[in-house]
Amino acid sequence: MRLRIRCYVDALQDRIHPHYGTFFPARSEYVDLVAAAPLPSDTLAFDVGTGTGVLAAVLARRGVRRVVATDNEPRAIACAAENFRNLGVEDRAEAVLTDMFPPGRAPLIVCNPPWIPATPHSSLDNAVYDPGSRMLFRFLNELPDHLEPDGEGWLVLSDLAEHLGLRTREDLLTAITEAGLKVVERLDTKPTHPKASDRDDPLFEARTAEVTSLWRLVRR
Ligand SMILES: C[S@@+](CC[C@H](N)C(=O)[O-])C[C@H]1O[C@@H](n2cnc3c(N)ncnc32)[C@H](O)[C@@H]1O
Repeated sequence: MRLRIRCYVDALQDRIHPHYGTFFPARSEYVDLVAAAPLPSDTLAFDVGTGTGVLAAVLARRGVRRVVATDNEPRAIACAAENFRNLGVEDRAEAVLTDMFPPGRAPLIVCNPPWIPATPHSSLDNAVYDPGSRMLFRFLNELPDHLEPDGEGWLVLSDLAEHLGLRTREDLLTAITEAGLKVVERLDTKPTHPKASDRDDPLFEARTAEVTSLWRLVRR
């Protein structure tokens, strides 16, 4: 018998199905940020590193008419495509296997890169750990070439790595500036997942201080 795990996503008022080995969106707060940020356009959006497709589906449900969702993991693409069909957004959202950005430019580009700069040991780890913050810095450096002139990049990132001493805020702000970007607004939220209040978790102190942010970025 095949196990079918489903995960209820408040922002979708619906369930998604994370396939085995695909990043499980157990934390709702970052999805809520994408559901709440002001949309710069409803014509086209890219979701870079889509995983289950959850953020692309939120954008499609918010009325974005075409969403191109990418991932470099074939199982994530199969998972996202299945979720788009199940959620009835397959006419708006398309899952594409590629490294980072799809061709062309968009007025909105979303990315939730892995939050912890450490070495992955499995394909699922690839969604959580990003050695040297490679995907994060690639997203920032390559974003200006994929944004339409007045377009916005939405970077979704927790500051857990900063609390663990693995990356500094200065590193992030310098990377944003050096990529030719500036911050229009930062929307912050505190994690509400169970580990954030688990005193036995060895990362309790860092998790208590953790803030998850959606950085609205534009070209300078
Ligand atoms: C933290 S998960 C986020 C998944 C999903 N967007 C979400 O918010 O739940 C990061 C995703 O980026 C994907 N990824 C990592 N490197 C990538 C690359 N170079 N190009 C495209 N996707 C990549 C991973 O496979 C993973 O699905």
